[in-house]
Amino acid sequence: MKRIVILISGRGSNMDALLNAGLPARFVAVISNNPDARGLATARDHGVATAVVDHRAFGDRGAFDAALAAEIDRHEPDLVVLAGFMRVLTDAFVGRYHGRLLNIHPSLLPAFPGLDTHRRALETGARIHGCTVHFVTPALDHGPIVIQAAVPVLPGDTEEKLAARVLREEHRIYPQAVRWFCEDRLLLDAAGAVTLRKAAEARGALVSPPLDA
Ligand code: GRF
Repeated sequence: MKRIVILISGRGSNMDALLNAGLPARFVAVISNNPDARGLATARDHGVATAVVDHRAFGDRGAFDAALAAEIDRHEPDLVVLAGFMRVLTDAFVGRYHGRLLNIHPSLLPAFPGLDTHRRALETGARIHGCTVHFVTPALDHGPIVIQAAVPVLPGDTEEKLAARVLREEHRIYPQAVRWFCEDRLLLDAAGAVTLRKAAEARGALVSPPLDA
């Protein structure tokens, strides 16, 4: 069984979705950079070991990332999952976990990397928004895409309504991506392309608003 470490900074709802998904994995630790992260208590309720590596205790990113990596490596994970982990990671950290570091981002990448994705989607008049699970590379929010889910942007949407619609899909696609990893079905080649082995053929197209009949 694959050993998984989850990194969080706050609420931890994606972490909770992963812990509840019945995955063929052992969640060996949940680690936060924020001692007040709500998700730490949730993890403990699931019986998962928790640790805090507070970034404020370190002089620079490199020192923080080295301490974080040391804490992660103690648990000998096969996979490290970023679930609302709000720190930019150094190239050295990302390189150390190449091919075994996943992130979820609340937009259809490559649209809207960075923060405030829902507000930006509304401001640009996008009709379709969504979320993306990707392997992490040094370029922020730009790594090879594993899976995406799309939702419509509806009339009268606020940032909160749209965020909630996207978050429901995050809670579906992140466990799916991690399950594929655990089943050794995700292949990341040297060129940075992701292949899913034994995938059912994709059918149809998603259009929003729906076309007239
Ligand atoms: C999610 O929207 C995730 O995509 C983004 O930060 C948010 C974290 O939410 N990276 P939670 O902590 O998983 O509830």
